[in-house]
Amino acid sequence: MTTPSSIEAARSLLRAAARVVVLTGAGVSADSGVPTFRGPDGLWRGHRPEDLATPEAFARSPETVWAWYRWRRSVVAECRPNAAHIALARWMMARDGITLVTQNVDGLHERSAVELDAEDSARVAPILLHGSLFRIRCRDCAYEREDRDAAAVGVPACPACGAPLRPAVVWFGEALPARALRLSIAAARRADACLVIGTSGVVYPAAGVAMEAVSSGARLIVIDPGETAFDPVADACVRMHAKDGVPSLLDLATTPHS
Ligand code: OAD
Repeated sequence: MTTPSSIEAARSLLRAAARVVVLTGAGVSADSGVPTFRGPDGLWRGHRPEDLATPEAFARSPETVWAWYRWRRSVVAECRPNAAHIALARWMMARDGITLVTQNVDGLHERSAVELDAEDSARVAPILLHGSLFRIRCRDCAYEREDRDAAAVGVPACPACGAPLRPAVVWFGEALPARALRLSIAAARRADACLVIGTSGVVYPAAGVAMEAVSSGARLIVIDPGETAFDPVADACVRMHAKDGVPSLLDLATTPHS
């Protein structure tokens, strides 16, 4: 249970921090209607990751993998940033020293900048650790582009080399984008506080961003209605849904979207 003191404690930790690294996971988008992975209605309850989110699955049946990712695109296309995304974007516009790192591929952090009509959307842009649902890349060469089509069928071919194109997301067994990971770890090492929102904390190296911050001396705040792997090392656990907990913690008025 969140007590008034745990959110107050979290607020004081954030106020005292000059530099903050924020790590978000699927839970920050749950209030927008995007399914999480490991909850009771999570994506991994109905599907096996090894059938859909590995290079081997793509080699076996690229059509199946593409159908699943296009379905996820169609789900996310119906969703809008919620009060948590908006509060975070406002907070990043209002003060310096915040680095937002996300495991999410849904583009909702990026869309919150559009909803706020942010002049400098780069200021609120997240570091994408697991890629994007709305980008596509070649299996074999460096070709990559935006692709939002949720209705296409079949497996697109690379215009540069003819190999199959695949979603530009990180699959199990694959390395994270090196630059994104490097920038995230550097921000974690500099941070005075780390704010973790809506992630179970079981998938590495992404979860290691928060652990790196902790081992470099940052205070850790968790916002999540459930238990997470970070709780034992957290300085404050706010057991709230992101759409309520994040605006309340950041103490900013937000436009309700959900
Ligand atoms: P998980 O599904 O593992 O965890 C979601 C977290 O969100 C849990 O801790 C929930 O308690 C919490 N949650 C649920 N509803 C919430 C709400 N309304 N507000 C806040 N929190 C809420 O998702 P991730 O930790 O993001 O990777 O998963 C990490 C990675 O595992 C994903 O990026 C994906 C997946 O396999 C890849 O695909 C490589």
